[in-house]
Amino acid sequence: MKKIKEGVFVDDCVKFMSRMDEKSIDLTVTSPPYDNLRDYKGYSFDFENIAKHLYRVTKEGGIVVWVVGDKINGGRTLTSFRQGLFFQDIGFQMHDVMIYQKKNTPFMRSNAYTNCYEFMFVLSRGKPNTFNPLKVKTARHGLEMLTHNKGPDGKNKKVLKELKKEKSRTNIWSYAVGYGGTTTDKIAFQHPAVFPEKLAEDHILSWTNPGDIVFDPMCGSGTTGKMALKYNRRFVGVDISEEYIAIAKERIYSGQIQMAGVV
Ligand SMILES: C[S@@+](CC[C@H](N)C(=O)[O-])C[C@H]1O[C@@H](n2cnc3c(N)ncnc32)[C@H](O)[C@@H]1O
Repeated sequence: MKKIKEGVFVDDCVKFMSRMDEKSIDLTVTSPPYDNLRDYKGYSFDFENIAKHLYRVTKEGGIVVWVVGDKINGGRTLTSFRQGLFFQDIGFQMHDVMIYQKKNTPFMRSNAYTNCYEFMFVLSRGKPNTFNPLKVKTARHGLEMLTHNKGPDGKNKKVLKELKKEKSRTNIWSYAVGYGGTTTDKIAFQHPAVFPEKLAEDHILSWTNPGDIVFDPMCGSGTTGKMALKYNRRFVGVDISEEYIAIAKERIYSGQIQMAGVV
């Protein structure tokens, strides 16, 4: 098996993935252009081939996190649902449908409730290899008299037990967006659709371990890559735009000694 070439590259991701080894990626965290909602300078978006190649390059037990929203044009396009079903048809399991809730700047609608979320499809190739659940503090903890299961005598017994200090998070994740929320890298906002650093971080910590390979085939301003390197994962990123890759390089590698083998 060829050594994976880490770094960020300007290319069409379909062409790029067709040159990658199969089953070489532990985790992909990516976000496609939504229904041509934004102008990415006319670049085309070949969803079906992207999905098929993602399946090919994902390791057994690897994960793809697909962050997606629908255009609202009269009603919702439901492109995201079609994409989810297509992913299933080609072999992925829809391991979870998570919600990325935006704490601020949600989209106002005059005749429907304000939209404040996007989907995070967590797709797995077979059973996930890694799950490091992120925890939150429980509201109450310490010692408390807790009801014990009834014994054969039918009586409820109380025992002094310690309440758990933390529990697993739910699958709705909320993030502040905009400067200071999404990132404090001013340069990132030269890209029209950056997702929060914390979102990428939380998925990377949940689904990988240090040394694993993280991929973003449409890496834009490089958010996934920045967080992957921060947590000692290896990273491969691609974007069709030279301009966005220049931003990604600045964000990922500024202040860092260029790693051996990194382009
Ligand atoms: C929603 S943005 C990703 C933003 C990124 N998650 C971030 O935090 O900056 C989608 C990206 O897909 C890129 N793109 C569109 N078509 C592509 C293709 N065929 N190959 C590679 N990148 C593509 C666009 O240039 C754009 O940067």
